[in-house]
This record gives sequence, structure tokens and C-alpha cells, in this order.
Amino acid sequence: AENRRESLMIVTGYAAKFFQESLWDTEEGKNIGLSYFKERGFSNDIIKKFELGYSPDQWEAFSSAAEKAGYQPEFMLESGLSVKRENGTLYDRYRGRVMFPIHSFTGRVIAFGGRTLKSDKNVPKYVNSPESEIYHKSNVLYGLFFAKKAIRDFDNCYLVEGYADVLSVFQAGIENVVASSGTSLTVEQIRLIGRLTKNITILYDGDAAGIKASLRGLDLILEEGLNVKVVSFPDGHDPDSYVRQVGSTAFKQHIEQNRQDFILYKTNILLKDAGTDPIRRAEVIREVVESIAKIPDSIKASVFIRECSHQMQIEERVLLTELNKMRLNKS
Ligand code: UTP
Ligand code: MN
Ligand code: MN
Ligand code: MN
Ligand code: MN
Repeated sequence: AENRRESLMIVTGYAAKFFQESLWDTEEGKNIGLSYFKERGFSNDIIKKFELGYSPDQWEAFSSAAEKAGYQPEFMLESGLSVKRENGTLYDRYRGRVMFPIHSFTGRVIAFGGRTLKSDKNVPKYVNSPESEIYHKSNVLYGLFFAKKAIRDFDNCYLVEGYADVLSVFQAGIENVVASSGTSLTVEQIRLIGRLTKNITILYDGDAAGIKASLRGLDLILEEGLNVKVVSFPDGHDPDSYVRQVGSTAFKQHIEQNRQDFILYKTNILLKDAGTDPIRRAEVIREVVESIAKIPDSIKASVFIRECSHQMQIEERVLLTELNKMRLNKS
């Protein structure tokens, strides 16, 4: 099994080199892929560091090069780089896409995300590698290999939604950033971060989907015993588009000035929805206490109860009673 994993990583490593060469050393790659990255504001340094690439817009460019170079079809298929036709021949999964290699914790390329350059709604924006013996997407965070030192140093991890967000935020000088890309945040991913820091700051997209995902992520993170804060972005923006619009200095300021404790964040969002209806406001209080009840450390939980009591103008005693009920129901 170890041999198979190694063989797979040799193929994905070869593919990363192939896509990089095609980005930097071919006319098509330079004209289409590289100019796309440039238009998005990615520097040469960041493109090279993250080993971004380009897959030629042909059916067999990668597959035939890999076969010629002696790679076994079995591993090209298992890694998801090639797909088998009915007649047994192979074609490329990624064609005419800019390529984002996904690295393991130790920096080996184990998978890819490929972004289309078309704005055709019928074409999936990102195509990701399938699960394989080397790639279990729920156990992987995009960018973690490049971020891990900064995560330890700053004792905090910024969590974004997508590949482009990681690159732009990293390029802006905030290197402790990872994405759960292509999957909603998992417990395994949180534990991976938890080995480096107990503090996570969520920077999700400023749309309804991003808000929903952040509320879900927040509870999961609390349940794992980590601390969580949230920074929101204006509707229609994600960290990548926002950093490009305002520049890195203003972006960092935005993060510093809008970093909200999870209670404040959740309460604000839910209260906005509830308006002045007292019954719905009571429901908000219950939902916030539900999040607090997920915190395993009871001392920490009681600190948050106090904060919640101030913010919502509710007696602490009432909230504690509610908290204890929820705790009893859980165990
Ligand atoms: P978004 O739709 O927010 O994309 O999805 P994005 O990263 O902002 O894309 P750009 O800026 O237009 O390039 C967030 C992440 O969800 C995953 C990708 O990892 C993406 O970065 N995703 C999205 C997919 O896996 N497939 C998709 O079709 C779309
Ligand atoms: Mn496995
Ligand atoms: Mn989105
Ligand atoms: Mn986005
Ligand atoms: Mn985006």
C-alpha cells in the first residue's frame, strides 16, 4: 500500500511539473494561463511558490506525455488526472484550465483543483481531483503546507473558502491562511489546525452561502475546543476580491477592525433576522446559548455566558439555567 501511495505521488508530482512547464514555457500557457493569473493580480512569486500551472486545451496532452515518460495508466487513472474511454485509451480530466496543486502537510502534490477560463454557466467553475489513496479531501486544507509556520508563529489560522482567497491573502502578507476548498469544513480539518494553534478566524465569502457556512463552521470549531472569531466582508465580496479592491494595507485594517467574537457575530446576524419580535429574539438567545453549550471547557463557557448576558441584556442566571439544561440533554 505504501508503494502504491508513493507511485501515485510520483505521478501527481510529475503532473504538477507538466502543468507548470505548460504555464511558463508554452505560448498557449503564457497567453492564456499566465495572463489570466496576472489579470487576477497574482505575482510571479506567488504563482511559483504555490506551483500553479496550466492544462493545455487538448484531449490527451498530459496523458500521452505521461505514458511516453513511462508512467503507468493505473496510477494516472487512480489519481484522477486521466479518464478511461470505452475503448481503453486515456484522456485528460483537466483541459484548458488553470491548475492549483493541492499539497500534503509535508509538501507533496496529492491532488489538483482546475479552474475554467470560460464564463459559461454550464461548465463547472472548478474541477477537483477525486478521492484516492493519497487524497482524502476531508483531511486536507488547501495551503496548509505553506501556512503552517506562520500559523504557529502568529498562533492563529485564517480560514477562507477558496483557492484564490488563499493566494490573495497570502500575497497580501497574511501567510497563516488555509481553505477548506471544495468541501464544507470538517472535524478532521479543524483537528489538523488544532495541532498548530487553538485560534481560528473565519474569513468566508460575504454572501448568504458564506454566512451560513460560517455559522456551521463556528459550532464545529467550538465543539473541537478551539477558539473562533469571524470577519465579515461586504455582500458580493470574498477575501480575494476585497483585497484586490482595497489593497493589502486596508485589507489588514479591515481584518483588525472587524474581527468579531463568535457570540457577537452570531447574535448580530440572528438578531438582524429576528427584528423586534420578542419571541424570535428569545429564539436567538437560545441559539447563541446552544453554541456556547458546545464549548467543552466549562470555565470558558461561563465567560461567554457573561458576555452574552451583557450583549443581549439578559440576566446571566437565566442564560446559565438554559446552558445547564442543554448540557444535561447532551450527555
Ligand atoms: P467560490 O464559488 O466562492 O469560488 O467557491 P472562488 O474561489 O471565489 O472562485 P473565483 O474567485 O471565481 O476563482 C469557493 C471554493 O469552493 C470550491 C473551490 O475550492 C473554490 O475555490 N468550488 C467552487 C469547487 O470545488 N467547485 C466549484 O464549482 C466551485
Ligand atoms: Mn486511506
Ligand atoms: Mn462562494
Ligand atoms: Mn468566493
Ligand atoms: Mn473569488
